[in-house]
Amino acid sequence: MNPTIRLINNRKSLRSYAHKAVERDVKNQIIHAAMRAPTAGNMMLYSILEVDSQHKKERLVESCDHQPFIAKAPFVLIFLADYQRTFDHYLHSGVEEYCRREGRTMRTPGEGDFLLACNDALIAAQTSVLAAESLGLGSCYIGDIMENWETHRDMFSLPDYVFPVTMVCYGYPKTEYEKEKPVLRFAPGYIHFKDEYKRLSPREFRDMYAPYEKEFYSGITFKNNAENPGQHNYARKFDSDFSREMTRSVRAALTLWQSQEKGRDS
Ligand SMILES: Cc1cc2nc3c(=O)[nH]c(=O)nc-3n(C[C@H](O)[C@H](O)[C@H](O)COP(=O)(O)O)c2cc1C
Repeated sequence: MNPTIRLINNRKSLRSYAHKAVERDVKNQIIHAAMRAPTAGNMMLYSILEVDSQHKKERLVESCDHQPFIAKAPFVLIFLADYQRTFDHYLHSGVEEYCRREGRTMRTPGEGDFLLACNDALIAAQTSVLAAESLGLGSCYIGDIMENWETHRDMFSLPDYVFPVTMVCYGYPKTEYEKEKPVLRFAPGYIHFKDEYKRLSPREFRDMYAPYEKEFYSGITFKNNAENPGQHNYARKFDSDFSREMTRSVRAALTLWQSQEKGRDS
């Protein structure tokens, strides 16, 4: 196994960090690696916001679904899907006047632009995660940064066309990686298809979840009267307060993009 594949295989999320600052040079290497990630049209439709303020980290603990380890992470980056910089560049370059001359309405960012910027930000984030791992740090994503959009917008002075799509906490491990739980994934046959998509039968779902049942679900009490892992997962994740808040928050941010949208085709 080559060292890169070994690094990928050995990575697991780290939520507890040594009391050791991350050196500026190491932080810069991680940020540099993120910026070397592929980016749509080489436009870099993202920004990277380092959260240095302890007060802000503590506020993030609450606004990101009460996750105390955020405040203990020595290095925290928010990856922003960012169409504002590109759009401002257009404005500063006289694109409005250019469009008038051409008899066209100047387009503003829409849903496709939003998703493309999210792609860019997430690819940069994952590149940073692997770079951090190679430098001896562990990391953990915080998807809940997509919640409470209005709070995060005000906390970080985010303009209209900037959305915090993910956050990553990094730090050195206390010892060797504690084994919180085994690293488990579905078997490749349920995830990797050739030439066409395949929906799974009830039987295939049973087989796909069999290793999880053994590792995670044997002997646990399901939440909210759920009777099986599917119902448990629905109650705990999909229909949870945090998922509902995330959907509300993303809709609010997107509604703003849509309400200002001009020059759309249909
Ligand atoms: C988009 C995304 C959002 C996540 N959000 C959180 C989070 O808010 N809190 C957390 O503790 N872990 C979070 N995680 C980490 C996952 O729980 C973790 O990756 C998953 O359980 C698999 O474990 P592993 O990373 O150790 O392989 C997130 C991961 C991803 C990719």
